Amino acid sequence: MIVLECVILKIRIMFLNTEITQDTFYVGVNDRIKTKFENLIPITKGVTYNSYLIIDEKVALVDTVDVCYSDLFLQKIQSQLNGRDIDYLIINHMEPDHSSAIRFIRKYYPNIVLVGNAKTLGMVEGFYGIDENFLEVKDGEMLSLGAHKLYFYFTPMVHWPETMMTYDKTTQTLFSGDAFGTFGTLDGGVLDAEINVERYWDEMALYYANIVGKYGSPVQKALQKLTPLEIKMICSTHGPVWKEYIDKAVDMYDRMSRFEAREGVVIAYGSMYGNTEQMAEAVAKGLVSAGIKNVVMHNTAATDSSVILRDIFKYKGLVIGSPTYCNELHPEIDALVRKIENRGIKRRDFAYFGSFSWAGVAKKKLGVFAETMGWRTVDFSVEEKMGLKENNYQACILLGEKLAELLRTEEPAAGSCH
Ligand code: FEO
Repeated sequence: MIVLECVILKIRIMFLNTEITQDTFYVGVNDRIKTKFENLIPITKGVTYNSYLIIDEKVALVDTVDVCYSDLFLQKIQSQLNGRDIDYLIINHMEPDHSSAIRFIRKYYPNIVLVGNAKTLGMVEGFYGIDENFLEVKDGEMLSLGAHKLYFYFTPMVHWPETMMTYDKTTQTLFSGDAFGTFGTLDGGVLDAEINVERYWDEMALYYANIVGKYGSPVQKALQKLTPLEIKMICSTHGPVWKEYIDKAVDMYDRMSRFEAREGVVIAYGSMYGNTEQMAEAVAKGLVSAGIKNVVMHNTAATDSSVILRDIFKYKGLVIGSPTYCNELHPEIDALVRKIENRGIKRRDFAYFGSFSWAGVAKKKLGVFAETMGWRTVDFSVEEKMGLKENNYQACILLGEKLAELLRTEEPAAGSCH
């Protein structure tokens, strides 16, 4: 700690933090070191931990960053405050990518009051052993910083039970926690208007599918709750600050949380020696010959399931093919179907096929999976023993064609008996 303090006191940069709106500064950090978010999801383009300072008669810090970046974070804050104290830390979300620097911040700002709801404050004690200097807020309550009036809206399960959002009515800025966040670092710019945002949409889908995807219904509730607010800016805890592209960011969240998808098909297969892969190729041929242009094939041994999940959220059709492996599905396929079940993905059109050498199990298991999900499913499937033969090659092509047909059949209206 002595070494760290020397660094903080003697090596000083006056960071030029971006003022994103009146009196509100971005003090977040980039992480290009972590390879797996939550030690699970590969992040090839890095991630940001966003934090914001609102400087008024009172000073509020909104969320913190991963503890590994505490030193840099503190320097950014100090550059902005010129010796002023911080009055409040607004804690919108307690997952440690945003909260693990709390103890560090308290060391340098011992008077800081931690602002959160009852669940948040319980978690502060549970994770960090802190049980003092709390200000508990209720849903809809306001905290005045002077000119800036902060309103708190509880949005449980977006992404944890304690999650809330903070709305600065003065600047019409929503501090949204994980919601509307993306993977990907901020390479010089913070506001969407000053950077090319195209690369972030897939990163948003990747983040949503893997982190928030299980909680479609709470996301819908949160969106409804926020509808009456005039929002000029959305400040998430990850990725760009949305100003020019608010409508698109909100629309993506709305569509993904309703499991709405575009025309296209994901084919996810496991294959040990290429025989099941040839079945997948034949299904793809059938789909394309029937006019489906967006066919995305994933070898589950080569593509991480996080990316496959992202694409399943994106496209309406899904095909899964698996060999039988030790009397089970191929392990990568088994893991994938569990992740799909866990997220309760709705309204997909489905087809499946399997293969085996001496005991056929995969096709049967995929049939059970289809029933569990309650999806529209092509009314036959294909199963091959050992190498792919002409009759099943043709059957796989037909499977693709039939799935294309199903995709173009209108779904019965909600509530219909048929
Ligand atoms: Fe970015 Fe749920 O933490």
